[in-house]
Amino acid sequence: MTSLAVIGTGYVGLTTGVCFAHLGHDVFCADIDADKVARLERGESPIVEERIEELIAEGLESGRLRFTDSPVEAVRDCEIAFLCVPTPSMADRSVDLAFVESAVAMIADALPPGAVVATKSTVPVGSTLVVERTLGRHDVAVVSNPEFLREGTAVHDFLTPDRVVIGSDDPAASERVAALYECLGAPVVITDPATAETVKYAANAFLATKLSFVNAIAAVCEAVGADVDDVMTSLGHDHRIGPDFLQPGPGWGGSCFPKDTQALLQISEEAGYPFRFLEGVLEVNAQQIERVVAKVESAVGGSLDAANVAVWGLTFKANTDDLRESPSLAVVRGLLSRGARIRAWDPTVEASRPPIPDDVEVCADPYVACQDADAVVVLTEWAELEEVDAVKVAELVRRRAVVDARNILDRDAWRLAGFDHQGIGK
Ligand code: UDX
Repeated sequence: MTSLAVIGTGYVGLTTGVCFAHLGHDVFCADIDADKVARLERGESPIVEERIEELIAEGLESGRLRFTDSPVEAVRDCEIAFLCVPTPSMADRSVDLAFVESAVAMIADALPPGAVVATKSTVPVGSTLVVERTLGRHDVAVVSNPEFLREGTAVHDFLTPDRVVIGSDDPAASERVAALYECLGAPVVITDPATAETVKYAANAFLATKLSFVNAIAAVCEAVGADVDDVMTSLGHDHRIGPDFLQPGPGWGGSCFPKDTQALLQISEEAGYPFRFLEGVLEVNAQQIERVVAKVESAVGGSLDAANVAVWGLTFKANTDDLRESPSLAVVRGLLSRGARIRAWDPTVEASRPPIPDDVEVCADPYVACQDADAVVVLTEWAELEEVDAVKVAELVRRRAVVDARNILDRDAWRLAGFDHQGIGK
């Protein structure tokens, strides 16, 4: 059992905290948001995440998981402190380290001698040095330990990682952090800090590249009359490519890919390498959003002006309530700018809230959103949508047109119900 502190209780911090407590460690989580801490102490999760409330309850009950709004209190007796604070983008695409620096400054004097500070926040290459300098402690080691979890499956991803990456100039500190993950049986890469920091950006940029490639091939499929599903299934059988992350969509989004690809572009440019290829990956993503808007425009008969569009799905992917950098909202903005009127449904969105544009009417169920619609558009792959009755929708809409930007609807059933059905890449 190791005494751990976790600074920041967002997706990464909260998951790290509850999972390490689940694995038997003594975990003290700190967040400067006192309301959030109060909710967590009552066992309420601030995020929608599978198993998270169960593990909060388990941790609170066993006494292995505690919360505080004082980072100083959290680290006072810790052996290892994890930094899990946000690292937002600045206007010039670079990463804002202000939260990291202020968190480190707060805990610097309180850390016991011999403690290790492990950075899980995604930070630019060279940030380990910034943390060391801000700490100003020769008796505290700093380690980079990037986190690769996905929203929606964060607990699962934490407990069954594909790999653990640890970067430090202090081999003993790396070993101490590595020991925490030993029971998970994942490959552990121990390296220097700059390499560990680069791995996180490389992983996210590679996955974003894979998706932009898939979406580009989908466009080619449409142009030549091929079927993207069979193309991707066939690609996925090639073990060098692999079957995951090959689903075309309205573009990729979320709190990581857009921010991290932009940051990597900025980091590489500053380092003297203009990463042209990655610029293309971002460009394809913007093009994909525009392609979906154009599909809707053609589905309603050529002009979106005063057209009623039913939008199904607002989050950046299913099984999360996260709207940050959602491609669905990018499509919605594109539709609104061409004069469309939008009624939307999403199982995690009860009423309009930022960043949803004010003029979007949020409906309680998918059918209500379809009333008098000139086109129905699927933008998030919610499982509920597979169960929607096309015949019932046909009776509600003004024009039988559906654009399935996630390829989840049963095309034959919708065509049978009289719909003009357009997918992606088919
Ligand atoms: C991602 C990385 O997967 C994770 O390792 C990293 O730590 C944080 O960023 P997340 O942002 O939670 O995780 O989302 P992810 O499931 O990777 O999806 C990202 C985007 O790609 C979403 O918009 C999703 O809809 C899209 N996507 C994903 C596709 O369009 N097709 C796919 O096949 C997979």
